[in-house]
This record gives sequence, C-alpha cells and structure tokens, in this order.
Amino acid sequence: MTIYLIRHCEAEGNITRRAHGHFDGKPTPNGLRQCQALAKRFDGIHLDAVYASHLTRANVTASYLAAPRGLNVIIDPRFAEIGLGVWEDRSWGEVARDYPQEWDLFSKEPWNFSIESGESYRQVADRFMAGLREMAATYNHSEVIALVSHSLALRCAVGRILDVPFEQPDGLSHCDNTGVTTINVSEDGALNIEKYACNTHLGELSTQAKLKRPLLDSHEINRAWAALRFDRAVDDMDTAIKLWHEVDCAVHRVGGLCPIETIHEELTTKPSYIARTAENEPIGIVVINLDKSAAENGAHISVLGVTEAQRGRSVGVQLIGQAMSVARKHGRSKLTLSVTQSNEHALALYRKMGFIVAYEFEQHGYQKYRMELML
Ligand SMILES: CC(C)(COP(=O)(O)OP(=O)(O)OC[C@H]1O[C@@H](n2cnc3c(N)ncnc32)[C@H](O)[C@@H]1OP(=O)(O)O)[C@@H](O)C(=O)NCCC(=O)NCCS
Repeated sequence: MTIYLIRHCEAEGNITRRAHGHFDGKPTPNGLRQCQALAKRFDGIHLDAVYASHLTRANVTASYLAAPRGLNVIIDPRFAEIGLGVWEDRSWGEVARDYPQEWDLFSKEPWNFSIESGESYRQVADRFMAGLREMAATYNHSEVIALVSHSLALRCAVGRILDVPFEQPDGLSHCDNTGVTTINVSEDGALNIEKYACNTHLGELSTQAKLKRPLLDSHEINRAWAALRFDRAVDDMDTAIKLWHEVDCAVHRVGGLCPIETIHEELTTKPSYIARTAENEPIGIVVINLDKSAAENGAHISVLGVTEAQRGRSVGVQLIGQAMSVARKHGRSKLTLSVTQSNEHALALYRKMGFIVAYEFEQHGYQKYRMELML
C-alpha cells in the first residue's frame, strides 16, 4: 500500500505570519494555484481514497485530488494541525513577545512545549499515528491513499515513523505547502518513508522559496520575514500620526496632509494598530473602520501604510492579516477598501491576499477600485 502524505496548500496564516493551528484560515490565491499544480502532479496516478483533516486549507487541497476521481474527501480530525490554544490567530511576533518561555520551547525544545488550551507535540503524534495505523489496516496491500494534513502534524508523524528521536522533530525540515511525502506500507504493516516533502511540482509557486529562508534554519527567520507585533496606535499617538502622514504623502491626498485633530479622532474611535519589529521599530499602520461597510457586514481598511524603507518585505501582508483578525473578532464576514487604480504595489498586494474588485468609482479626479475580501 502507498500513502501520500501531503501538506495543505498555502493558507492565509502562512503569509500573514499568524499562529494558525486549529484556527480555520482560508487558502490564498497562490495556494489554489498550488492545488492545481498538485493535481497535475497526480495526473495518471490511481487513488483509492483521499483523506484530510477537518480544516478548510486541508480539505480544499484534498478536493483537487478527490473530485477528478469521483471520490469524496474523507474527513478525519486526527490529522489536524497542532492546537495552539491561546496563541491561535495571534501574530508570531506577538506570541514571541508575550510568551517568551513557551516560545523558546516551541522553537527549540518542542517535546517540552505546552500552551494553555493547546496540544503537545506528543499528543499530536499519538492521534495522527492512530489514524494512520487504522488506515493501514483498513485498505489492502495494492491500494493507494492520499492524506492531506499540516506542517507540524506531518513532522510529528514522520518523526515517529523514521524513529528520529522524538526530542528532535526539528531535525526534519519544514515541508513546503502541497509538498508530498511517500510512504510505503509493507504487508506486515511496517511504514517506510520513500520520499520526504517533495515539492518539485511547485516551481515559482513555492511558498518556501518566497519565504527566502533555507528550509532548515527555522529559528533564524530572515529579517524580511520576521513576524511583527501590533500595538494599539492610540498608545503611541505621535508615532501613529507620523506613520499616517507618511501614507498621506505616498498616496497623494487632495488638500494635503490629514489634520492632526482628525487623525486623533480617528485613532481614538477606530481599531488602529502600529506594526513593530521585534526591536520595537514602528514600520507600519492600519486603521479599521467598523462603520463604513457595516451594512454589508464588513469592516473597511481606511488607512494602510508601511515606512518607505520597509516596503516589499511582507509588512503590508501582515498588516492586512491584523485587519482580518480584528474584523472577524467583530463578527464581520468581509474586509473592504478603496485604492487608486494607479497604485500598482497596493493593488498587487490586495490581489495576492485574494481581494477582488467590487466596483470602480471616481473620487477627487482619481479613478479608484472598491475591493473586498470574504473572510
Ligand atoms: C502598498 C503597501 C502598503 C504595501 O506594503 P508592503 O509591505 O510594501 O507590501 P508587501 O511586502 O507585504 O507585499 C506583498 C505583495 O505586494 C506586492 N508588492 C509590494 N511591493 C511591491 C513592489 N515594490 N513591487 C512589486 N510588487 C510589490 C507584491 O505582490 C508582494 O507580494 P510578493 O512579495 O509575493 O511579490 C506599501 O507599499 C505602502 O505603504 N505604500 C504607500 C501607501 C499606500 O499606497 N497605501 C495603500 C493605500 S490603498
């Protein structure tokens, strides 16, 4: 029997740098392209069953293998990602700041890691292997199964199978999104890894390549991808005003810079956040208007900007991740924004996140798009 263990496609938490264990983040547009590449990789390969965890990013990925074969995806929560308890949907930067001891264990000594309301690596390995062994006993020797799961869950399972000391799951590299590990199950039920984390079908769609860091140095995340933390803008009004004015200059506002009194009023009445590096450097701002799209159960990003020196380093993506999180916490199902049609970088960022154009309009002589992202 052959079992293909596959990591889910790129999902929002992978690019917004947030702790998404059981949090049910959606696939990104690039993630859906990865699913197509995965489906192509499996062209001509017979599959008898397709399994996935209950999380959307896994079962959407699995559907690209199941649907062309007329199969239904079999959902089994034992293959879900590690539950991250009170860390769920917080930025990794905040997690590192607010839980330094647990973060250190999570990164360097995972076997000792535990977090309130979360799971341990050992619990994940136990439930995953129980599911895998049941699968090996259910199907016959000639059958072929695909199973879509998650990064840490897969590493726990592969670590067990390879008998890599469980104390060193970091000895196994992170698997790319939609990476494929091939397991051969011999007639006596022994599990053998034939190929680990193969991502050759991805090419330029690879999320790992975009992360710009070697697969093995998970603790030395390239500064370009350092996860940010978000402080309430109202707690540092001077910095927030400076950042806001930098955005004003970049997007050319009719009538010059926004008056300080107006900014003050906005920041004190609307959820607004300053993005900071681990070194406390303020490098971006986002302001969320909960009134503007309320009639369509949306939240509106009214200000978004990154300091000039830090642009193109995924700060904008993480600021939108923060806005998505705030909107969801307020029960909103949609994020909206307006953008000048000539603002190419902003448009590229919004499209990368999955925003689509709702309509076009003109404002103060500028052609603009109203864009929206379903949450
Ligand atoms: C628009 C803005 C917020 C983007 O923030 P950012 O931190 O530079 O964006 P990111 O690094 O997160 O970029 C994410 C994506 O946006 C696009 N993008 C961002 N900067 C780009 C650039 N210089 N060239 C091409 N594409 C770019 C790319 O698609 C990129 O994805 P990739 O890294 O996979 O290629 C930032 O450029 C900015 O502050 N501009 C001035 C203010 C502004 O225009 N605000 C928006 C008003 S609607």
